[in-house]
Amino acid sequence: MAILVTGGAGYIGSHTVMYLKEQGEEVVVLDNLSKGHERAVDGVPFYQADLTDGKVLDHIFTDRDIDSVIHFAASSLVGESVTNPLEYYRNNVTGSHALVSKLVEYEVKYIVFSSTAATYGNPERTPIVESDPTIPTNPYGETKLAIEKMLRWCDEAYGLKSTSLRYFNAAGADPEGRIGEDHDPESHLIPIVLQAALGQREKVSIFGNDYPTKDGTCVRDYIHVLDLAQAHYLALKRMKESNESNIFNLGNGKGFTVKEVIDTCRIVTEKEIVVEDASRRAGDPAVLIASSQKAIKELGWKPVYPELQQIVEHAWNWHQNHPQGYKAGTVSLER
Ligand code: UFG
Repeated sequence: MAILVTGGAGYIGSHTVMYLKEQGEEVVVLDNLSKGHERAVDGVPFYQADLTDGKVLDHIFTDRDIDSVIHFAASSLVGESVTNPLEYYRNNVTGSHALVSKLVEYEVKYIVFSSTAATYGNPERTPIVESDPTIPTNPYGETKLAIEKMLRWCDEAYGLKSTSLRYFNAAGADPEGRIGEDHDPESHLIPIVLQAALGQREKVSIFGNDYPTKDGTCVRDYIHVLDLAQAHYLALKRMKESNESNIFNLGNGKGFTVKEVIDTCRIVTEKEIVVEDASRRAGDPAVLIASSQKAIKELGWKPVYPELQQIVEHAWNWHQNHPQGYKAGTVSLER
């Protein structure tokens, strides 16, 4: 039996594919390569197509023995979603609708869905638990929440079991340096700071210094990408055993301000990093910190790399050795 991973050539997807392979799972990847890198999933059966490409999905479900899906493929930038909401509804909601329709048609019973902390909006309390109100402050979170709800109704109607994983801020890279984060253009904080450390950009803009936090900058809960990968594997196993749908937060339960993240990058890289204050980025909540007690208790999840410094060290290892990301032609992906 194989697991279909949509968006498997992307950042979190490719680390999950690598992790699944290391657990001895058979994996098939579907990715339209709008953001992903085929080289990140070297040696894995690969289909380049959109989620809405029914012919390719028919082909995959007919030819491959797929019993479950891990669904990453989506647009995932908070700021971009505010300026281009229709693209987010098209790509995320319409794309997931097309995929889930095929799962129902081909009687695939299990889906792990890549959801987000952005479903909560501005939380009323910290750390956030899964039953807290979900009032997104941006279209990205809205589309992910809409898909979670669609999945819940698909369980009622068709018995499709789903596990939605609400990740907080994914960061870091494969500790062995085989794969890592490569977005073009980059918008995430840690890789941007590391690009500044490499001299690839002059300075880092701090988006907002007047939030109600200890130093005025936004607080986020950074979680190692391989710890996310582990959670996907555990969630899939648990769902198959219990035959129940569920929702889990995934974070370390510790918040760091933007300034603290930059300071950690200074310590790890031993480089000067120039910063400038900039205006707030639309759609950003002030504080997002997870309670992951439910995942720890019910999935047996235990983050292996919970320290921010180690997360940054792994990211720095990747960026130093692959300053042009996957473009450089120097990535060794033997595994
Ligand atoms: N930030 C800066 N300067 C930058 C980039 C980011 O100050 O150049 C700030 C942001 O404003 C935010 C924090 O750093 O306060 C983290 O920003 P990221 O862009 O790295 O991450 P986000 O919190 O915006 O979003 C990420 C994922 C989303 C997910 C969210 C959950 O991209 O998909 O985490 O917390 F929903």
